[in-house]
Amino acid sequence: MMSQKVRDLVRLPFKYYEPKPGHPDWAAINKDAVRLAIQILKNQEPFSPGRKMYRSTKRVLAILKTMRNFFRNKIRMAKSNHNFIPLFYIWTMTNACNFTCSFCSNHRGGKYPLLFQKGETRNLSTAQGKQLLGIMKDASAIYFCGGEPTIRRDLPELLDYSSKLRIAMFNMINTNGSLIGDLLLKPRYRKFLSEMDVIIVSLDAMELTKLAAICKTSESVARKVIRNILALRILKHFFPFKLSINIVVGQKNFHDAFDVLDWCNDLGLTFAAVAENIVDKADQGLLANPEYQQLVDKILSRAEQGYPMIASKYMLDRLLRAKFTSCFPRVFDHIDHDGTLFWPCKTYPQAIKVDVLKHKNVAGVHAEAAKMINPAFFHGKGPGKCNGECTWMQDCVTDFYAGGLIHGLFDGKLLKEIRGLLQ
Ligand SMILES: C[S@@+](CC[C@H](N)C(=O)[O-])C[C@H]1O[C@@H](n2cnc3c(N)ncnc32)[C@H](O)[C@@H]1O
Ligand code: SF4
Repeated sequence: MMSQKVRDLVRLPFKYYEPKPGHPDWAAINKDAVRLAIQILKNQEPFSPGRKMYRSTKRVLAILKTMRNFFRNKIRMAKSNHNFIPLFYIWTMTNACNFTCSFCSNHRGGKYPLLFQKGETRNLSTAQGKQLLGIMKDASAIYFCGGEPTIRRDLPELLDYSSKLRIAMFNMINTNGSLIGDLLLKPRYRKFLSEMDVIIVSLDAMELTKLAAICKTSESVARKVIRNILALRILKHFFPFKLSINIVVGQKNFHDAFDVLDWCNDLGLTFAAVAENIVDKADQGLLANPEYQQLVDKILSRAEQGYPMIASKYMLDRLLRAKFTSCFPRVFDHIDHDGTLFWPCKTYPQAIKVDVLKHKNVAGVHAEAAKMINPAFFHGKGPGKCNGECTWMQDCVTDFYAGGLIHGLFDGKLLKEIRGLLQ
């Protein structure tokens, strides 16, 4: 007899979510997803006891590094030195992207695919990418990003490199989800699902024509995004990665966010949402809309009921209502496609860029940058300050981490939040 678990994978267990006209044909798309997941399973290296042991060792090393850095950063915070050892870093591996989302923002008023089309194409080579990973090894996590990171052919090779014990990183990726299903069938992707810790897939509407219009792609590619998510949902029963679905909520798709929330909750998928940021602040019209506020209430109530969310209820409230008032941009590093680090913050119009590859380690990179701009008390209004009010998840994380540095690891609820992200 089929167990309930298998039945839920084969037949989608909808409770809150109600299919609407234009949404996928769920029986058909899930059949495609099951077929794809089986093919992928045949291609992926199994998550053997040896792999399990290796991954556990890597995670222990990464956690120890996080703790060590936390105490070092705490001392810096006490001395008003805000040049922190980064908790994580975002690597824009390429500006190239097969979508051109209506909301896409590079934090500086540009859209990644358009920057690529305008000639910002000088990406690091594979060897340089590995060098970058080695230099950045003091951070606890890497966030492979773009543009669309899956466009880089060497993504699995770089992931394999960042999974080495001497680097010991938590590996996270943010992808538009359109290519990953077919890529996981390629031999070079054989270790991908064993090595990636967190996969965040963007999903900005459930109606296929609308999703295609938002992303400027075809309906069949939009359908692939959802098929791939469903395949990953099956695969996460065989590999230990965390799968999270992210929606950028804007004035034109906040109704769709209700559907995405219900769908994720029904399917046991971790839900993540962010208000659309326009250059350096969340869309103020969106925040003022009572229906958006109802959406946030619903998200928070689902978090309270225990549905999987990317962050705690407390953190989601601060993020989605733009409640956090401080930001410490040096908690994470934002590295561009050409291997330069934005300092003190990517959004700052006068940000300087430091060539990471010229240095042996992250301390050297930061020391060069800090000589030019002191990052202490950089967030805020006034001359020499960032003057921004960004509300991306990473900014909220800096506020939270800094709270931990000031008030202590346990008072700041930091451990719980980090555990929530990775489990
Ligand atoms: C720039 S994208 C790169 C990764 C990948 N191409 C994707 O879209 O998932 C990284 C994340 O930023 C989100 N994002 C893009 N523009 C945004 C904006 N204006 N405000 C908030 N989030 C945004 C995307 O939805 C995605 O989750
Ligand atoms: S998929 Fe990502 S990088 Fe590409 S256009 Fe959309 S938000 Fe930008």
